[in-house]
Amino acid sequence: MGVANLLIAAIATVACILTQVVALPSPLGSPRPLVIWHGMGDSYASPGILEFMEMIRDMHPGIFVHSVYINENLDEDRRAGWFGNLNEQLANVSLQLNSIPELEDGFDALGFSQGGLFFRAYVERYNSPPVHNMIAFGSPHMGVSDLPVCKPWDLLCQLARRATRGGVYGEWAQENLVQAQYFRDPEQLDLYLSRNKWLTSINNEIPDSVNTTYAKNLESLNKLILVLFSEDTTVVPKESAWFGSYAPSNESSSADKAVIPMRLQPLYTENRIGLKTLDQRGDIVLATCVGEHMQLTPDCWKPLVQKYAGGKPDGDVAMDGQTVLTVQ
Ligand SMILES: *[C@@H]1O[C@H](CO)[C@@H](O)[C@H](O)[C@H]1NC(C)=O
Ligand SMILES: *[C@@H]1O[C@H](CO)[C@@H](O)[C@H](O)[C@H]1NC(C)=O
Ligand SMILES: *[C@@H]1O[C@H](CO)[C@@H](O)[C@H](O)[C@H]1NC(C)=O
Repeated sequence: MGVANLLIAAIATVACILTQVVALPSPLGSPRPLVIWHGMGDSYASPGILEFMEMIRDMHPGIFVHSVYINENLDEDRRAGWFGNLNEQLANVSLQLNSIPELEDGFDALGFSQGGLFFRAYVERYNSPPVHNMIAFGSPHMGVSDLPVCKPWDLLCQLARRATRGGVYGEWAQENLVQAQYFRDPEQLDLYLSRNKWLTSINNEIPDSVNTTYAKNLESLNKLILVLFSEDTTVVPKESAWFGSYAPSNESSSADKAVIPMRLQPLYTENRIGLKTLDQRGDIVLATCVGEHMQLTPDCWKPLVQKYAGGKPDGDVAMDGQTVLTVQ
């Protein structure tokens, strides 16, 4: 082959590579986007959330970060953490995530407290655009068996708490109070199973109505990172963050509160939502942060967010010109 031919061949190859590079979903080397779902009592753009987003951008330069909202108004968004229908909220969030072009090729998900539970529900039910890694900090995956305590000044929280206490398994509460929709009472497990429609669905706890799509979608995660706070008294039991729950009990036996760990839960042993598959594949990370609920010290969140967020979607395509060839 002559030099000219070689040159032409080389140019053609480069052009081909370039076209492919241009056709890639995200710019070469830019980190996978991250979506955050805030917790109860917070809003999508509170000072704390905005600061956290800023720290993530410092950690992963160039990353696109989105914070999920139920309502663009901050007060309304905060209120939606107590009042609203979770099926409806999830459907709306799915539309929201669908409408953001930066997310169309997928993203990593990071949920704070109940936001992590809702994110898992999003993965099971929608997952379009798809979630790659999911990190849940202190999330009540097996529900709560006691209602989170409110800050003394938080009247909205107290109102919701009182209403939820009043008739947690009533039809109205189950449709309109957020915490009621994941309240799982080990002393009234039968009542929970018959009246609760949301958490029983998300966890596929009703043997006759297991939705196999949930497992299929959850299994498509790359990694599921479950973070438990060692001194958590807000999520009861704290092991709910790791899919633990109190064993069913009644008045006489309620003194001994044994926790059933994830690997002994029927939803795990029967692989109803795909947890067993993920776990046996080595893709569930059980992490512990020292401290009270959502005490997000840098020691706690930074290593996890460093490792499991901001990865390069084209992971094996390095920045140096040579490995660009793998693009073909
Ligand atoms: C969901 O979106 C619809 C249509 O925009 C709106 O009417 C409804 O109030 C929203 N629901 C929630 C729970 O935000
Ligand atoms: C199972 O879940 C999928 C995803 O949310 C949904 O499209 C489907 O209708 C559900 N199936 C049943 C039988 O409810
Ligand atoms: C309460 O639980 C204990 C221990 O599991 C059991 O022996 C007892 O029969 C239960 N009582 C009722 C009324 O269900």
